[in-house]
Parts: sequence; structure tokens; C-alpha cells
Amino acid sequence: MTTPIYRIATLSDVDGIAECAAEAMMEDDLFGALWPRRKEYPEQFVAYFRRRARERILDHSVVNLVSEIPVQENGKEVLKVVGMAQWQKFGKPTVETGWSPVKAVGKRLIGFQDWAYSWFENDTASDPEAVAGFVRDFTEMEHKYWVKDGKEHERWHLQILAVHSIARRRGIGGRLVELGVERAKRDGCDASLEASPMGLPLYKSKGFEVLDTYMMKVKGPDGQPIPSPILMWKNPDVQR
Ligand SMILES: CC(C)(COP(=O)(O)OP(=O)(O)OC[C@H]1O[C@@H](n2cnc3c(N)ncnc32)[C@H](O)[C@@H]1OP(=O)(O)O)[C@@H](O)C(=O)NCCC(=O)NCCS
Repeated sequence: MTTPIYRIATLSDVDGIAECAAEAMMEDDLFGALWPRRKEYPEQFVAYFRRRARERILDHSVVNLVSEIPVQENGKEVLKVVGMAQWQKFGKPTVETGWSPVKAVGKRLIGFQDWAYSWFENDTASDPEAVAGFVRDFTEMEHKYWVKDGKEHERWHLQILAVHSIARRRGIGGRLVELGVERAKRDGCDASLEASPMGLPLYKSKGFEVLDTYMMKVKGPDGQPIPSPILMWKNPDVQR
């Protein structure tokens, strides 16, 4: 089996990232609650991840990682994005690779383009009430755990991690997590994330500890609130 490639994503990866994330999140309980009709309208689900990927690639505080493996498509070998992770720096302003005024202008243009699309695109796959509830829950959770005296805890935070089902249990998710932890070590700060139940064993195996479990008010397929364990990897070198 060939060794997967790991690299920082560029704008040309947006489609690959969106397809990988949408495929991986199809069975995720939280996305299931927010996007109850995603299986009927998979193209809307992909479009959501495409918008999100574009926005994040142009965000100077985010490092977007992808993992690729060679696959056969129409009789040809091509590289396919099978893993994606978005690590965002909070706290002290950073220090991001590849940020430029060109990206800043691009971000504005893309923001405008997405706003314009939102007038024409159908969005029948998501549940707007659940999405609004989730945004409220998430903001509350982030504030509770990561903001103290109005200051963000300095950390690299894993916003999203997804590995395509064709490439799971080959260490790709684990490597994408390690790369963020290594960056946090280099920057002398912690690493943090909120896990879904499916991601929990992986994060624990990489040394993250559960600080608490936040119950999302958004309800899962069994009608129960979705648990979201809050995890943190503590860098012993950091002065707290
Ligand atoms: C969770 C996810 C990212 C794991 O990616 P992956 O590339 O398969 O993970 P790895 O191969 O690096 O796994 C590393 C270790 O994590 C643990 N692990 C990973 N997936 C697991 C699973 N489904 N059940 C139990 N343990 C698991 C194992 O200890 C594994 O080591 P092993 O294979 O030697 O036993 C992937 O399954 C996924 O994208 N799921 C859907 C989206 C999702 O839940 N994302 C997480 C959001 S918080």
C-alpha cells in the first residue's frame, strides 16, 4: 500500500476537500441532526463544505491540511484527497504561513460570492433551526471552556477532521492530528478540540484528555442530545 501524502491545502483543493468531508460526515450524528435531508440532496452538503473550505483556506489563522492517496479513475492513476483537517490558531495573533494581501482581497471577494449564491442556491437539506441552535450551543461551549477574563486560551484548535471511508484505519486521521500537535509544540502552546463520539478513540490514542462533556441541545437520531467531549492536549512546556 502506498504511503499517503500530507500537505498544506491550496484553493485548488477546495473540491477535493469538500467531497472528502461530505462523504465522511454522511454518517456523523451531529451533521445528521443539522442536515437531516443531506442524503436526498448530497450536492447541497458538498456545496456547504466547499464554501467552508474556501473561506478557511483564505483565513490567515487556519492551517488546512490534506492527505492524498493514488486511486484509479477512468483507467488513470490520480491523487485523491482522502483526509482533511483544519487547525485554527486562537489566542496570540499568529504567524501564519502563506498569508498575503492577495489572500485578504480574495477572502472579501469569496465572501461576496457566497452571499450572492445564498440568494439563488436552494437549501432544502439542512434544518435552519437546528443549525441556529448549534451555532448558539457552540458559541456558549467555546466561551465556557476557552475564554477566561475575556481572553482566548492560546492554542491550536482542530475545527474539523475527516477521513474518507475508503482510507480509514490507515493512520491518516492520526497523522493529521499529530501534525497539529507538533505545530502547537513548536509554537509553545496547547492543542484543543471538541470530539464527536466517533473521533474520541483516535484523540485519546494521541494523548488528548477529556476536560468535560458538553451536551449539545441539538438532538441526535435517537432524540437524545448529542454529547461532545471537550479535549485538550497539554503541552508541559507551556507556562500557565
Ligand atoms: C474518526 C476518523 C477521523 C478516524 O480517521 P482514521 O484515519 O480512520 O484514523 P486512524 O487510522 O489514524 O486511527 C488511529 C487510531 O484511532 C483509533 N480509531 C480510529 N477510528 C476508530 C474507530 N472507528 N473505532 C475505534 N477506534 C478507532 C484506533 O486506536 C486507531 O488505531 P488502530 O487502527 O491502530 O487501532 C474517521 O473515521 C472519520 O473521518 N470519521 C467520520 C468523521 C468524524 O467522525 N470525524 C471526527 C470528528 S470529531
